[in-house]
Amino acid sequence: MENFKDKEIIEKEAKFYTHTFSRLPVVIERGKGMYLWDVNGTKYLDMFAGIGVNSVGHCNKEVVKAIKKQVGILMHTSNWLYTIPQIELAEKLTKISGMEKVFFTNDGTEAVEAAIKLVRRGKKKEIIAMEHDFHGRTLGSLSLTWKENFRKPFEPLIPFTKFAEYNNIDALEKAITENTAAVLLEPIQSESGTIIPDKGYLKAVRQLCDEKGIYMLVDEVAVGFGRTGKMFCFQYENIMPDVVCIAKAMGGGFPIGAMLCRGIDFNPGEHGGTYIGNPLACASANAAIDYITYNNLPENARIMGEYLIKNLNELKGKNLKIKEIRGKGLLIGIDVEDAKKTVMELIENGILTIYTGNTVRLLPPLIISKKECDEFLDVLSKCKSLKK
Ligand SMILES: Cc1ncc(COP(=O)(O)O)c(C=O)c1O
Repeated sequence: MENFKDKEIIEKEAKFYTHTFSRLPVVIERGKGMYLWDVNGTKYLDMFAGIGVNSVGHCNKEVVKAIKKQVGILMHTSNWLYTIPQIELAEKLTKISGMEKVFFTNDGTEAVEAAIKLVRRGKKKEIIAMEHDFHGRTLGSLSLTWKENFRKPFEPLIPFTKFAEYNNIDALEKAITENTAAVLLEPIQSESGTIIPDKGYLKAVRQLCDEKGIYMLVDEVAVGFGRTGKMFCFQYENIMPDVVCIAKAMGGGFPIGAMLCRGIDFNPGEHGGTYIGNPLACASANAAIDYITYNNLPENARIMGEYLIKNLNELKGKNLKIKEIRGKGLLIGIDVEDAKKTVMELIENGILTIYTGNTVRLLPPLIISKKECDEFLDVLSKCKSLKK
């Protein structure tokens, strides 16, 4: 029996919620593993994982168990007191990243804010981000986010921020001045539609930062925790950044982020937050990261990503109107004529994806298997919007 709960919810959202989101017309009620169900009982294959968050799948058994256990013990204390899950998580993060210290946040934009504050305490104030980078929506991270329509209405933003061309080491060198404190970049630009720099670029940025005596800040919020085939994307180039921002997949679906640093640290009182590193979020993150590690999900991301890209290229070669396919691991962008139209058609056929401009973006849970890849490829191959 069909009901129309979704229509009612969508109408209420329009009435009661600020008009800031352009949502897809689906009202989700529950999720399990690779799948989501809407309020009418329709099942969807989730190929974007809450924008790269649900890497261990929806309602992952281990994450649910850890949250249930922690919720009955302790949810919040503030940082006046020590708690075990927080310090356990801090130690775990330093081990898997090679960084020295951890500052917890509630999400990705706060991780970038923490990084900005950390490196701007000295005489040098300028931070250079990259054209087409996305670093968040709060005023500091927004100052380093490229897209004009995100930034312009809120100017003036924080001073001494600017942009250099991505994947162009000469342009970055020219942009550096005596006042430059740090360079901030995404190792792969995710929100802009999966823009992958040349091999060796991150290493060259590291060398340049060393030569100039400036900090290298890497934003792994979108790509961290295995999405591109390694636990962290910077590990592809055997470099160590000075600061790494993380969030999204870290909490297994629970909101949490962090700024990791090395060779630089806050002094007492320089930064803080009531909720950051609360035991419930940390218990969830501990379970999610253990799951990613024990099940070697970065390797699964690498293998499944190659499988998807190979098959997408075959479809492109056959009869589908696909312009370009870019990807590393399970971060994939498919350029098409009308991405919104294709995303809507996929939804009608039980697949959830998102888009930026005319790029359909795939960021599925890292637990995906060939069976679900084939399910997606089969539906995509039948899309009318992609037929030549
Ligand atoms: C690279 C990057 N940095 C920062 C952010 C901001 O994270 P959040 O949305 O959790 O504030 C995002 C969000 O998409 C991101 O992709």
